[in-house]
Amino acid sequence: MRAASVSDYRELARRRLPKIFFEYIDGGSYAEETLRRNVADLEAIALRQRVMRDMTELDMGVEVLGQELSMPVGLSPVGMAGMYGRRGEVQAARAAAAAGVPFCLSTVGVCSVEEVAKGAQAPWFQLYMLKDRGYMRELLGRAKDLHCPVLVFTVDLPVPGARYRDVRSGFTGASKFEAAMTQLWDGITHPGWTWDVFVNGRPHSLGSVASAVQDSRRVTDFLSWIARNFDRSVTWKDLDWVRETWDGPIVVKGVLDPEDARDAVRAGAQGLVVSNHGGRQLDGVRSSISALPRIADAVGNDLEVFMDGGVRSGLDVLKALSLGARACFLGRAWAYALGAGGEAQVAKMLATVRSELAVAMILTGCRSAQEAGPELLDGLDPPPASRRDLS
Ligand SMILES: Cc1cc2nc3c(=O)[nH]c(=O)nc-3n(C[C@H](O)[C@H](O)[C@H](O)COP(=O)(O)O)c2cc1C
Repeated sequence: MRAASVSDYRELARRRLPKIFFEYIDGGSYAEETLRRNVADLEAIALRQRVMRDMTELDMGVEVLGQELSMPVGLSPVGMAGMYGRRGEVQAARAAAAAGVPFCLSTVGVCSVEEVAKGAQAPWFQLYMLKDRGYMRELLGRAKDLHCPVLVFTVDLPVPGARYRDVRSGFTGASKFEAAMTQLWDGITHPGWTWDVFVNGRPHSLGSVASAVQDSRRVTDFLSWIARNFDRSVTWKDLDWVRETWDGPIVVKGVLDPEDARDAVRAGAQGLVVSNHGGRQLDGVRSSISALPRIADAVGNDLEVFMDGGVRSGLDVLKALSLGARACFLGRAWAYALGAGGEAQVAKMLATVRSELAVAMILTGCRSAQEAGPELLDGLDPPPASRRDLS
């Protein structure tokens, strides 16, 4: 099958990846309401078609935290990507660099920040608040020495949400014996992945934090390390502490409420990502796209607003820009593409999003991504008079 859309990459990843990894990427928390809302609420927004406007000139570039991007898109941090493709973070970072968009490396990437900086480009670096602040300071220092341009501080995971699919697939909660059997069966039934990732993609550790994650032989051990070491005592004051070590831009990721957004401004963040962690944390919360306008209003120009969650096409990107995002980030879209076929497929997926965005801009009469606004959206028509009478 040749992939034409993000849903096609999803299908290819489903075929190629061991079940535990596909379900880990694809799933959300609890009943997955928020995961569905993220996608459905974006789908429900109508763009406003405009014609006959000479759209020869199109400027898709945006400036984000002092960086020029070729389009208003970036790759969100996705943990353990090196289990979906051989040295997956480096492959995805290369595709992002070639496309002129940022790649954000997860704290729990398989490739270390040094490996990504050497093999591709210095990534944006995502950090969770760890209990061991000394170790965190060391990590921040490493990212700084490598000239990572932006620190993304994820705040919506003081504890991991319950993800039923991971239990059902045997990714979490399985005994050592069950896990070994699952792994063996997954290996036998996915020979392409076994050769590419399991045999040739080693080491399978959490690169940047490998020295802290001792005695972890199985991927499931990494997850329990995460659960034990993420710090739920974190407050906005901790941003002051981060600031002592990190003097570059800080983006707070995982804000869904306008009050929190204003706190992020007060705490001195340069950007925020409206996000519910792709529906993987508190299920039942609103979609990112529905949270975006209120947050954009609440912070105005005090910091740069980004969003992620449910973005599956260039049309979705334009909808997010229209509602106040300066750029938006892709999570599962790139993880599926990586799982489907590595760097080449991530590059193709980004090219698809770019051409979809171009078509959407041309047919809404939007010449500049930086100037996209609510005028690109078609508000719902008022109900006909007869229906109004009834209500
Ligand atoms: C498999 C997977 C792993 C993720 N790991 C991280 C992570 O390590 N750090 C983080 O801040 N967000 C992580 N996220 C959340 C993404 O950065 C992003 O917020 C989310 O995927 C956006 O939703 P989307 O997948 O619908 O695009 C992860 C998401 C997925 C799907």
